[in-house]
Amino acid sequence: MPHIEKKNYALYATRRKELIKKIKSAYPNNQNAKIVLFGAFEQERVPFKQESSFYYYSGIEEPAATIIIDLEQEMSSLYVPNFGTEREKWVAGVIQPTLEKAQLLGFDRISYAGNPCKGYQCHPFFTASEYAQIVQDLTNDIDQQRTIFTINPDHPYAYIEQRFILQRLTQFIPNFLLQCVDVSPLIAQMRRKKNNHEIELIYKAIDITVHAHQAAARVIQEGAIEYEIQAAIEYIFTSSGATIAFPSIVGSGKNSTVLHYNQNNAIIGKNDLVVVDIGASYNYYCADLTRTYPVAKTFTKRQREIYSIVLDTQDYIANLAKPGIWLSNKNKPEESLYHLAHDYLKSKGYDKYFMHGIGHFLGLDVHDVGDYQEPLQVGDVITIEPGIYIPQESLGVRIEDNYWIVPDGCVSLSENLSKAMDDIEQMMQPPVEMDQEFEKEDDEGFEA
Ligand code: GLY
Ligand code: MN
Repeated sequence: MPHIEKKNYALYATRRKELIKKIKSAYPNNQNAKIVLFGAFEQERVPFKQESSFYYYSGIEEPAATIIIDLEQEMSSLYVPNFGTEREKWVAGVIQPTLEKAQLLGFDRISYAGNPCKGYQCHPFFTASEYAQIVQDLTNDIDQQRTIFTINPDHPYAYIEQRFILQRLTQFIPNFLLQCVDVSPLIAQMRRKKNNHEIELIYKAIDITVHAHQAAARVIQEGAIEYEIQAAIEYIFTSSGATIAFPSIVGSGKNSTVLHYNQNNAIIGKNDLVVVDIGASYNYYCADLTRTYPVAKTFTKRQREIYSIVLDTQDYIANLAKPGIWLSNKNKPEESLYHLAHDYLKSKGYDKYFMHGIGHFLGLDVHDVGDYQEPLQVGDVITIEPGIYIPQESLGVRIEDNYWIVPDGCVSLSENLSKAMDDIEQMMQPPVEMDQEFEKEDDEGFEA
C-alpha cells in the first residue's frame, strides 16, 4: 500500500522562527520590520509546484499565496487569493481563511489577499483589487518606514516569479522596492543544511530513482527508442508518488555526449552507450543519479577504459569531500573538488573531455541553493558527477551519486545503485524466471 505522509506543520513554523532569529541577528537595527514571501502561481502547461523557499517555510501548496511575518511580534500571517465560489468546481484543496485552518497550518491568522479573483485562478498580473488587503497592509508598513525583508537577489534567473511580484506591487505601492532588503542568502544558508527528516525524504527520492534505474537497465536494448526507456523510468516515479525533479536524460550513442540532452527520441544502436541521468522528486525533495549503460549488455574494451577512469575519478573525489573543502574554488585549487577532478583527469589525458562542474547542492531543487563561495559544511547534500564526453567516438560516460556531508567526510546516499561495470552488466540481464531457476536446479541435479 502506498503511504501518504501526513504533514507536520509545526516543523515549518519552527523554520519561520529560525528565520526571524537569523534576520534579527543579521540586522539588529531593523527589529520593527516584516518578512514577505511569495508562493508560485499556476501555469497552464505544467502542473503546479510550490516555490521551494515558500514551501520550506510553510509546507503549503496553495498557488498565489503570500506570507507576511511581523518580526517584532513574531507573528505569521498567510494570505490566500479570494477565489470566490468558482474554484472548487475546477480544482480540489482550496484554503479558506478560518481561524481553525490557520491553527491547523501553524499560522497566527489567514486572510484573503483581496477581493474575488476573476475566474478561478489568480495570475502574476493580479489587479489592485485582487491584492487589496496585501496592498493595504504593505502600504501601512511602507508609510511607517518599516523594512521589508524578502527574496530579491540580483541574479540572472533565480526567483524570477518572486521578483516579478515585487515589481507588480510597486505599481500599487510606490517606493515599495526602496524598502525591500534581499534575504535570499540567509534563506539559502538555512536550506543547505539538511536535518534528519530532510535526509529521509532525499533518501526516499533516491530510493525511487534507484528503482527507476533498475527498470531502465532492463529495457535498454538495440532498436528501442530513448523515450521508451524514459517511460519505464517515469512509470516508477509516478507509481511511487513522485514526480520528475528535472527533465529525464536518456542519451544513446552520440547523444550520450550532450550534457543536458532530453529530446529522448533517437533509436538506440547496438554498440551504443546510454547515459541515463534522472531524478525523482518526492515530497519536493530531489534525487539526481546518473548511470551509463552498454546496449550490448557488456562493455567493450574502449568503453571499459573510459568508464573506469570516470569511476576512479568519482571515488577519488568522494574520498576527499568533507567539511572545509570547496565544490569549486579557483583560488584554492588544491582544496577544490572541481579542480582536483580536473587534475586527476588531466593525469589520464582526458581533462578536455570533462566540461561541466563536479557537482552541486541537492535538496528541494535539483540544483539547490547554497553559496559556492563557502566551503562544504556538515549537513550539505551534494552530487559528485564526473564525466568524459568524446563526440568523435559517440562515447559519453557520466556517473553521478548523491552524498551527505558529515563531520569526517561524506556518506553516499545512493550506494544501493550499482556502478561497478560487472554489476551494471548484471543489472541489464532479464530477471531470471522462477520456472527457469527450478529447471536449472533440476538439470544440475540430473547431471550430478
Ligand atoms: N542531472 C542534471 C544536472 O545535474 O544538471
Ligand atoms: Mn546533477
